[in-house]
Amino acid sequence: MRRPILAANWKMQKTTGEAEAFVRSFLPLVRDASGVDVVIAPPFTALERVGAALRGSEVALAAQNVNAEEKGAFTGEIAPGMLTDLGCSYAIVGHSERRTLYGETDQMVAAKAAALLAHDVRPIVCVGESLEEREAERTLAVISSQIEESLASIPPERAAEIVVAYEPIWAIGTGRTATPEMAQEVHAMIRERLRDRFGGAGDRIRIQYGGSVKPANVRDLMGQADIDGALVGGASLDPESFAKIVHFDQQGGSG
Ligand code: PGA
Repeated sequence: MRRPILAANWKMQKTTGEAEAFVRSFLPLVRDASGVDVVIAPPFTALERVGAALRGSEVALAAQNVNAEEKGAFTGEIAPGMLTDLGCSYAIVGHSERRTLYGETDQMVAAKAAALLAHDVRPIVCVGESLEEREAERTLAVISSQIEESLASIPPERAAEIVVAYEPIWAIGTGRTATPEMAQEVHAMIRERLRDRFGGAGDRIRIQYGGSVKPANVRDLMGQADIDGALVGGASLDPESFAKIVHFDQQGGSG
């Protein structure tokens, strides 16, 4: 019912040349992938070149951040309309690195997500708990409040267009993945919150898992009822590795 969505988050990595070389190697490896959405989020500086290299393919272009304002005196920032101009169909907002290193609040994330939708760019809204919050058994409360506040400005009739990414902070870039069961527990709770907020559209919103996803664990994660995709950092930097993640149903797994 929900089309799987596999997204590469390159963070602050790859020059324009390296980014284009990735696309040239990657596209032939995923030509036969069907029934899935594949998304690449390069740094802003490589958006145009990656967009040009992706033209004619089914792979979508995404940004890693955006400013909620239309334009103006915001040195160093990028407006939603600039992303549309470059052919972005998605943008990541509220990544934990933005929240913890650059002080982004749920309110800022909510404004960014709404601004993106107004420009027909689909937001990938990230949420996730810290290790301290998990150990204090506050995971469900923390995520529930992030979902409520970060999605506060989404018009219900546009809800099905958003993507939510659950990324436990302690699993990002650490090689420590949540077990599929741990992830599913949080995804199921997110699904409930989405249904409370958006009714039937809550069943259509895709929820990605992120945090040390790799070819060896993606199939088991994707096998969970409410895990509809993956947001992949480290393992998306290499074309073969990300292509294996796109072909998650062909990978090994414990079951
Ligand atoms: P990781 O990053 O796959 O390197 O853990 C995921 C993310 O931060 O989106």
